Amino acid sequence: MPARKHIRITEVGPRDGLQNEAVVVSVQEKVAFVDLLSQAGVAEIEVSSFVSPQWVPQLGDAEDVFGRMSRRDSVVYSALVPNEEGMQRALAAHVDKIALFTAASETFSRKNTNATIGETLRRFTPVIAQARSASLPVRAYISCAVACPYEGAIDPGRVREVAARLLDIGADEIDLGETIGVAVPSDIDRLYEGLTGLLEPAQTTLHLHDTRGTALACALRAIQLGVVSFDATCGGLGGCPYAPGAAGNLATEDLVYLCNRMGYETGVDLGALFAASRHVAAALGRALPGRVFGADGNERGNDKGNGSRFGR
Ligand code: HMG
Ligand code: MG
Repeated sequence: MPARKHIRITEVGPRDGLQNEAVVVSVQEKVAFVDLLSQAGVAEIEVSSFVSPQWVPQLGDAEDVFGRMSRRDSVVYSALVPNEEGMQRALAAHVDKIALFTAASETFSRKNTNATIGETLRRFTPVIAQARSASLPVRAYISCAVACPYEGAIDPGRVREVAARLLDIGADEIDLGETIGVAVPSDIDRLYEGLTGLLEPAQTTLHLHDTRGTALACALRAIQLGVVSFDATCGGLGGCPYAPGAAGNLATEDLVYLCNRMGYETGVDLGALFAASRHVAAALGRALPGRVFGADGNERGNDKGNGSRFGR
């Protein structure tokens, strides 16, 4: 029997999910959320952001969450870092990996980071040098990889250009952000065609938002093209406060369910993920949009074994 293809999942709910909520979740509840995710078997958890608390007050407690969560050796605990000030905080919190972020759209870059794309890259150079000294891997997001909330459709050539510059300054991993959830599978084809000769699909991570219900279709297309690393949020939490109208991310349970049914390995326990989603839904006091969570995750007693009756 050939080995089952492994799909690597980074759970970004504690960061991308909680940055966009009106309710500020307490440190205690965030820590419990991260700990439940650690138990679910995801490869990596983006725990928080060391951005300006004036810009994202919801994540102003990143140090406290890092200080109190229970780490597992099998999980990589990462965080967003926008600049050197954020890097100092991230190093003091003992992150395992940093995630820088820029965009393929100038307007989005300015709205999100008060800087042009070129300025963000200049800010990253000393940060990457510090990451190297601390032996920390560097992820670099390119937001608006398909479309921008301000500029509309984005030419894949612009994504390629930014990706090339990020690789030049030493980024280890390029994460393509479909920030506003407009993509359909043919957009994913074009995005990866644009990267031909620079990056193989298997060398990228894809970060899909699910505003229009097309994220899972795009993920499947990406898997068929060779992508093996995805970001997702449990229950489909998420959005970006500087991308008006952007809804939650691809729901982790939906991706895991699809992988389980199609014979791809994720290492994630659906039942344990449901427990994390139930926890965060209760903390937020609202229902979560994830489809598999809605179908199979809400009821007590469904979190035994492999969760969904059909998931495994
Ligand atoms: P700025 O206002 O231009 O910064 O913001 P500044 O350097 O002029 O500093 C202003 C003040 O902020 C100073 O304090 C600094 O010390 C402080 P003051 O002297 O006024 O008291 N400051 C900081 N404090 C703590 N930590 C820091 C930090 N930096 C400055 N790191 C900045 C520039 C980049 C900081 C700001 O624009 C920012 O924090 N932006 C982040 C916005 C954000 O987090 N957006 C969401 C994440 S991106 C996303 O969601 C997309 C993604 O999911 C992928 C996708 O879906 O496409 C990743
Ligand atoms: Mg996002």
